Amino acid sequence: MATAEAPAAAGGAQIIDGKMTAELIRKEIAVEASAIKSKYGKSPGLAVVLVGSRGDSATYVRSKKKACADVGIESFGTELPEDVTEEELLKVVQEYNENDAVHGILVQLPLPKHINEQRILDAISLEKDVDGFHPFNIGSLAMRGRQPLYTSCTPKGCLELLKRYSVPISGKRAVVLGRSNIVGMPVAHLLQGEDATVTVVHSKTKDAREICAEADILIAAIGKAEMVKADWVKPGAAVIDVGTNPIPDESKKSGYRLVGDVAFKEVREKAGYITPVPGGVGPMTIAMLLQNCTEGAKRVLEKAASAPAS
Ligand code: GUN
Repeated sequence: MATAEAPAAAGGAQIIDGKMTAELIRKEIAVEASAIKSKYGKSPGLAVVLVGSRGDSATYVRSKKKACADVGIESFGTELPEDVTEEELLKVVQEYNENDAVHGILVQLPLPKHINEQRILDAISLEKDVDGFHPFNIGSLAMRGRQPLYTSCTPKGCLELLKRYSVPISGKRAVVLGRSNIVGMPVAHLLQGEDATVTVVHSKTKDAREICAEADILIAAIGKAEMVKADWVKPGAAVIDVGTNPIPDESKKSGYRLVGDVAFKEVREKAGYITPVPGGVGPMTIAMLLQNCTEGAKRVLEKAASAPAS
C-alpha cells in the first residue's frame, strides 16, 4: 500500500471509505453487544438528550438512535423544548446518571445560548461520558501516560481511519485546521499521542495555507465549505475532511447539498489519501459512539459481576 509520503497514484488519492469502515466496525459491535447481553443479561444502553428544534441536531440524533437499534444497543431519548431551563436539563442528566440501564449519556451540541454548556457537560458521570467531553476525560487525553475513559467520537474516528488505511503517523507532521472542543483540540492530542508533530491552525493563524501545505496528515475541521484547495496540500498527504457544510444546490429536492472543508475534486488529484463528504468521517463518528457505549457497558457490567456480594 502507498505511504502518505508517496505522490498520489495516477487517477488521484486513495479514497478512505468511512462508510464501509464504519459498517465493518458496526458488525463487530453487534457481536460484542450480543455477547454482553448473553453474559450479563443486559444490553448496553445509550441515552441521547436533544434540546430545541435544530434540524441538523435532530437528524444526527435520529441517526444515532437508529444505529443503536441496528447493533443491539438500547436507546433512551429525551427531547426538551428550546426554552428549557438549565436546572431542568441538569435534572434529566442526573436521572440518566442514576439509571443503571444507561451506560452512556450524550447531550447533543450545540445547546441554546441561555444554557451553560460547560455546566451540563461537567454534570455527566465520568463513567457515562461516551462523548469524551468531560474535562477529566479531555485532561487525561492531553496528559502523557494517562488514558481517558472515553475519547471523543469524531477525533477517534479520524484516527481509526488513518490506522485502518495504514497511514503512518509516528514522526509525521500533522496539521489540524480548526481548534474546536469537539474535534480540533482532541484530535490534535490524539495525533500527538501517536507521536506525530502537531500544529493547530485556526482563524488567527498567519500563513495558514503554507503551514497546511507542509502536512503529511491534514485534518480539516474548520467548518468552511471547500476552503482547503490543492495548493494547501502536500503531494501524497493524507487528508481527513471533517467538514459538513450545506451549500445551495437547486438540483436537490432539499435545495442544498453537503460539502466538506476540502475542495475534494482538485485535492484528490494531489493527496495520497482523502476522505469524501459524505461517506468519510461522518459514519465513523456514530460507529465510535456505539463502540464507546459498548466498551463502557462492558466495563461497568464486568466490575459489577466481579464485586463481592454484600
Ligand atoms: N454536535 C456535533 N458533533 C457532536 C458530537 O460528537 N457530540 C455531541 N454531543 N454533539 C455534537
